[in-house]
Amino acid sequence: MKRLLILLTLLAPPPAVSGQTEVVSGQQGMVATVHPLATQAARKAFANGGNAVDAALTAAITLGVVDGYNSGIGGGCFILIRTPSGKLYAIDGRETAPRQATVEMYYRDGKADTALSQVGALASGTPGAIAAYHLAWRKCGQLAWSEHFTEAAKIAREGFPISERYSRILAGKQEMFERFSGSRKVFIHNGKTLAADERLVQADLARTLDGIATHGPSYFYRGPVAKKISEWMANNGGVLNEQDFVNYRAKTRKPIVTSYRGHTVIGMPPPSSGGIHVAQILNMLEQFPVRDMYLEQPAQYIHHVAEAMKLAFADRAFYLGDPDFTRVPSGLISKPYAQQLANRIDSTASMSVESHGLPPHRIPLKPQRHTTHIAAADQQGYWVAMTATINTSFGSKVIVPGTGIVLNNEMDDFALAPGVANAFGLIGSDANKVESRKRPLSSMSPTIVLDKGSQQPLFTLGAAGGPKIITSVVLGISGVIDLELSPYDTLKKPRFHHQWSPDRLYLEQSHNPEIGVAMKALGHNVYSTSSAGVMQMIYQNPETGEFTGVVEPRNRDW
Ligand code: GLY
Repeated sequence: MKRLLILLTLLAPPPAVSGQTEVVSGQQGMVATVHPLATQAARKAFANGGNAVDAALTAAITLGVVDGYNSGIGGGCFILIRTPSGKLYAIDGRETAPRQATVEMYYRDGKADTALSQVGALASGTPGAIAAYHLAWRKCGQLAWSEHFTEAAKIAREGFPISERYSRILAGKQEMFERFSGSRKVFIHNGKTLAADERLVQADLARTLDGIATHGPSYFYRGPVAKKISEWMANNGGVLNEQDFVNYRAKTRKPIVTSYRGHTVIGMPPPSSGGIHVAQILNMLEQFPVRDMYLEQPAQYIHHVAEAMKLAFADRAFYLGDPDFTRVPSGLISKPYAQQLANRIDSTASMSVESHGLPPHRIPLKPQRHTTHIAAADQQGYWVAMTATINTSFGSKVIVPGTGIVLNNEMDDFALAPGVANAFGLIGSDANKVESRKRPLSSMSPTIVLDKGSQQPLFTLGAAGGPKIITSVVLGISGVIDLELSPYDTLKKPRFHHQWSPDRLYLEQSHNPEIGVAMKALGHNVYSTSSAGVMQMIYQNPETGEFTGVVEPRNRDW
């Protein structure tokens, strides 16, 4: 399918087959998603009298149908909302380890085996997406609950032609889909996964969406969906059961609220690590004249930001976990702590961060794609940043027969054992070990930034890309605030990423080669990457009130 408009305003003309639109402006409202069908559904929500929350929920439910390798109702999400009166909601719809989950479940022959946390019955936590959507809707929605499902169910029932990218990802997973009858039925026809432009029809998923639309979340958590998933799990060596669904609750958390050069930065608290580490890295950057560095010696800008990223990720591996199970130090986001860390940054050499005694680790061969971010805002004053995921592409690779639901593989976001890296190369400590009913640590970083003068929303952003979410969001905020770039130029600018472990500085290939040379000279282990993070941003001009929405310019085929 050709890429249509993937970002629309109420005042924009109807979608045109431009194939290239990455930035749109308008006065009344804005929604930005990675997929044109999801954006169109969200636009209808606006047209039917919904607000930005309705638009974001509609987009999320539709993305689960048309972009189901990244997110869906078999997964989880974090939703950050600012209401017109300035009230904040940080809704935690993170998947939760089943009651019967244990660390030992993932051990074979004395070793933790990530194949078990990534594919099949043991990979899934209790999905939180529907509970989080419902909570957001109860707090702020203006449309009827069922309306958010109409487009998604229709597309699932009638099908839609899949993109080149979708078909490539499907083909790469064929062997794994073959193992599960529900996945085989949906994705494999005549011995092959669907090709580009073939229609993906998801009749079971359409029925499930209709059921949730009509009966509410109980259809999912206390009805046929929980029952079917539980039965499948029992027959396939899983432990997730009906009681886990009954027990599941989306939670409202206290958002992380910090400042960056006078602007207020609002982020997601644990079990996401996003809000804390975005704030921590920004706090370190506040200690340096990064704008001057960028203008005079761009390599110094990259060096200082990368060193700050490294220090933050070392803390992530040691301290971060589900706050209902572990004490996450509040001092991580304090300015004096940031100053101490910043003092360790040497402008002449990359440092080796021997932090917290964490052991060596395995480096993943190929970080995987996954997750999606939705940005929405409206003239009433609702702002929404929602990041949703089923973890790696197609999650556990399991579609539970009769439901059409792709189950997440979020159990892989736990640290299975010290030094055992997950699909993103991340390691962790006991703070993020597998425990019954615990939420695995996330990097998702939905963020809203308030203007330093008016303290009104200035922009919202978020990204996909595992740990690259955190670093992309930092670069997005620094791009607008430090480098004074337009939202579009901020997203377009070459990105870089460091996550402490592995000790690698990833530079996007679009960087000037001289940057790579300069970074090597500073002692960085430089690796090239084609793209770091998939970001959406909405910016509101404080003078004119005009919204500008930008979708990730790096991705052209959804
Ligand atoms: N599953 C990726 C994340 O939550 O960070």
